[in-house]
Amino acid sequence: MAWATTTLALYGAGGAALATSLLKLRQRLDLSQAKHKSLAGHARIARRLAAFMPFYDYDEAQFFCSDGAPADIAARRRAGFERLAALYKERFAATIRQTAQAAESISDLQFTAAYRVPFQYSRIVRAYLPSAAFLQSSAGVTVTDLDGNRFYDVSGSYGVNVLGYDFYKGAIERGAARVRELGPVLGPYHPLVAENAALLKEISGLDEVSFHMSGTEAVMQAVRLSRYHTRRSHLVRFCGAYHGWWGDVQPGIGNPLPARETYTLRDMSEATLRVIRTRRDIACVLVNPLQALHPNAAAPTDSALLDSARRAHFDKDAYADWLRRLRAVCSERDIVLIFDEVFVGFRLAPGGAQEYFGVRADLVTYGKTLGGGLPIGVVCGRRDLMKRFRDDRPADICFARGTFNSHPYVMAAMNEFLRHLRTPEGQAVYRDLDRTWNERARQLNERLRAEQLPVEVAAMSSIWTVCYGAPSRYNWMLQYYLRAEGLALSWIGTGRLIFSLDYTEADFAAVAERFVAAARAMQRDGWWWSNPALTNKSIKRTILKEMIARRLFPARKPS
Ligand SMILES: Cc1ncc(COP(=O)(O)O)c(C=O)c1O
Repeated sequence: MAWATTTLALYGAGGAALATSLLKLRQRLDLSQAKHKSLAGHARIARRLAAFMPFYDYDEAQFFCSDGAPADIAARRRAGFERLAALYKERFAATIRQTAQAAESISDLQFTAAYRVPFQYSRIVRAYLPSAAFLQSSAGVTVTDLDGNRFYDVSGSYGVNVLGYDFYKGAIERGAARVRELGPVLGPYHPLVAENAALLKEISGLDEVSFHMSGTEAVMQAVRLSRYHTRRSHLVRFCGAYHGWWGDVQPGIGNPLPARETYTLRDMSEATLRVIRTRRDIACVLVNPLQALHPNAAAPTDSALLDSARRAHFDKDAYADWLRRLRAVCSERDIVLIFDEVFVGFRLAPGGAQEYFGVRADLVTYGKTLGGGLPIGVVCGRRDLMKRFRDDRPADICFARGTFNSHPYVMAAMNEFLRHLRTPEGQAVYRDLDRTWNERARQLNERLRAEQLPVEVAAMSSIWTVCYGAPSRYNWMLQYYLRAEGLALSWIGTGRLIFSLDYTEADFAAVAERFVAAARAMQRDGWWWSNPALTNKSIKRTILKEMIARRLFPARKPS
């Protein structure tokens, strides 16, 4: 009898173990199906491959014909390049000099200079078209460099510049005057902090607010709170989405450690919903609504622009529908849905992405423009999720501090920004916003098409990215032609153009004129030469071959 019982118990335990293994296997399979097939979807593999990728670059002869272009085209390119180099040398002399000197002591300048274009071309580009990273002033939609050149600013100051530089200058000045009596006292609050919290609650539709110093910190806090309250470990982020540079939200290349408690899943995918619905270790799902412009792709940067495969297309309805479905699954599983609106908040609508897409989140992070021109990160959230201690477990707290949180000067500039949003003038900025920017993008694309230039822009309201229509290895050159025409881009080049909302029709017409002129010059100089054998696939294949050859034969030059 005892024997029979033991056997039965063993069978039972074996069956349970088998069932658990099968469940684990199923979950594993679900997880791999919910990963995007690109390297961005496989952070660990990407990190490993990055460690193996060898450095090599082109010499001056290869630089102009790395796509197999014939000698006459290479000569045209060389002539164009030399023209640009001469223009840079003359027109941007003081700015370039200052940048070169400062780069010796500022590591960030070295990094941005090196990664402006694909690394194979970087050395020669740096030698002839060096970075000019200093400015002396801004006014309206323009900025002026140290040589006195005025550029139309399409960098958007990393997205901070929503209302126009003049607005932020005023906000900082007026704000500083309002808190001058208290000055830089930290710890106790200036009364404006309470007013800001009330305004932010109204805007976000959420119950409580916490103030931080950057978007990265706001995201860290939102994730920490989610883990604390759900008692689960993992966060879900979507493939390609940027949420700041904290390790857990930046798995893969750029982070020396693997992010073990992060799932990077495919955006806008049923397989992802299945994973979120079935796993028990998910604390929160982080959404950066900017991804609606290019789901599953990383922030487009010219340093990765080795072919013309970059695609972007914004479908507001499809993305809103996806967010609604995501919302439903998170609610069903008590998973915290976080909208990271650090970039898009206040740019798409006064109530941010929640209002714009018609979906509510449990926690929302804001930053950038909300500081009225000064550094900021904010979390707004449901009361139960924002609480940092437990009434029944006094030592079980969720710690979050920061010396400069709620700095009076930042709070005052923020207050200027938030108050302005409520004025008729502040509201008017958002009237017909999408229609205006979509129409501007359409007009520019029409002109580019009419001139048979293989380039077009894709728009998500005032955030644009440049896409290229013909297979080419040289699209990144466009950023230099754009600068020569008087457009100031951020260091990631044509991957992102960000307009402030004070751009008038006349300002935009000037930008469009310059954009077309730059593309025309690029075409004239032969960078978009193409032949039928040159495809995005063949370009990728050639580069892979070059890398393998360099890995196997380090001394040999790329042919
Ligand atoms: C969506 C999003 N989250 C977080 C951050 C990080 O913000 P910060 O650079 O202020 O740390 C950024 C910055 O670009 C962002 O775009």
